[in-house]
Amino acid sequence: MASPRPAPGSGDLPLDREPSRIEAMFGDIASRYDLMNRLMTAGLDGRWRRMAASEARLSPGGEALDVCCGTGDLAFSLVEACPACAVTGLDFTPAMLARAREKAAARARRGDPVPHAFLEADLLDLPFDDGRFAAVTVGWGVRNVPDVPRAFAEMARVTRPGGRVVCLESTLPSTSWSRRFHALWQGCVVPTLGRLVSGDRSAYSYLPASVAAFPGADELAAVMSRAGLVRVRYRRLGLDAVALHVGEAPA
Ligand SMILES: C[S@@+](CC[C@H](N)C(=O)[O-])C[C@H]1O[C@@H](n2cnc3c(N)ncnc32)[C@H](O)[C@@H]1O
Repeated sequence: MASPRPAPGSGDLPLDREPSRIEAMFGDIASRYDLMNRLMTAGLDGRWRRMAASEARLSPGGEALDVCCGTGDLAFSLVEACPACAVTGLDFTPAMLARAREKAAARARRGDPVPHAFLEADLLDLPFDDGRFAAVTVGWGVRNVPDVPRAFAEMARVTRPGGRVVCLESTLPSTSWSRRFHALWQGCVVPTLGRLVSGDRSAYSYLPASVAAFPGADELAAVMSRAGLVRVRYRRLGLDAVALHVGEAPA
């Protein structure tokens, strides 16, 4: 069942990450995506996003970009961490962006801080000048792109010198007991929940296969370093199955 591992940093990933298929898959599950996230992570995903937002080390007046923003939750964590920052969310799936904008409008009515904009664009071809952002974040996004090195090269390119790239992503656990637990959770529980909640088992069967095919945490750190980021480090969260990577654009 496990997919063959890609050569580290090769960008040659074995799963079908053809952009139109990825977009169609997220388009289909957009309306139930948030509920599935809560269920799949036992409600911990919000806490992990807050940790990622705090690692962005934003200060008032700074600009941040959240790529693969989906329904906007990491972009919302960024503005909560720094209400006086201009945060842009970016994604290429219109249905996910529509949910993000609806949620932003509801938050604005409550008087909560909201991102500056949600923009439709491709992470692999970011429509921004070099060195624009104090921080660029991505949550559960890079696993879906066909060229991971290029994704990090683009994120590094638009980060200003000394700014941070922060990546929150599912990863293969490092211990055998944790691998067994997560194989059961992601291989059986998650696809069943996916079928019951979203009516789409295939999108949630993709999760364990895409994690197995994705670079491990050490390999991902090496990909980030090769993209030109420095002081790359990571810590594991969520019983070992989530990694929070941080790298800095050279000053
Ligand atoms: C698993 S969701 C993550 C959403 C959000 N970051 C979160 O924390 O829940 C992955 C998102 O990445 C987007 N995505 C995948 N490849 C992309 C690309 N090349 N450019 C822009 N967005 C992309 C998908 O449309 C989807 O909304």
